[in-house]
Amino acid sequence: ATERTLSIVKPDATKRNLTGKIVAKFEDAGLRVVASKRIHLTEAQAGEFYAEHKERGFYGELVAYMASEPVVVQVLEGDGAILKNREVMGATDPAQADAGTIRKEFALSKGENSVHGSDSAASAAREIAFFFSGLELVG
Ligand code: CMP
Repeated sequence: ATERTLSIVKPDATKRNLTGKIVAKFEDAGLRVVASKRIHLTEAQAGEFYAEHKERGFYGELVAYMASEPVVVQVLEGDGAILKNREVMGATDPAQADAGTIRKEFALSKGENSVHGSDSAASAAREIAFFFSGLELVG
């Protein structure tokens, strides 16, 4: 079924000018960019986005990092988009990621791992609404 998922090109990747190379991997996999913007999150915004990780030891570091440089937030659409996006990203830890995935090629560490993608349909709905209004989604 056609799905939408929320993708973020993270600070380590925007800083190294990798946005185009990363988006090309999603497009080559059949995902379509139906909304896109470059923004610089405040720590408050990053903290709210990652609220589910509040109790984790890396939360403070994660929030500071996500607010450290601009990010590119996008809605990707396609058949089975949520799983497909996660396959193209590869495992959270680049050391565990399969060859050819974004994280294997570009990620620096578990934290500075170049991309975020929604992990479920419920997360995708919440995360898309967090960044975009319906008017900004152009299928
Ligand atoms: P993401 O998919 O954006 O969702 C939560 C993020 O927390 C995850 O990607 C990682 O970048 C980050 N993360 C997970 N584990 C660690 C860790 N051990 N240290 C630092 N950051 C982490």
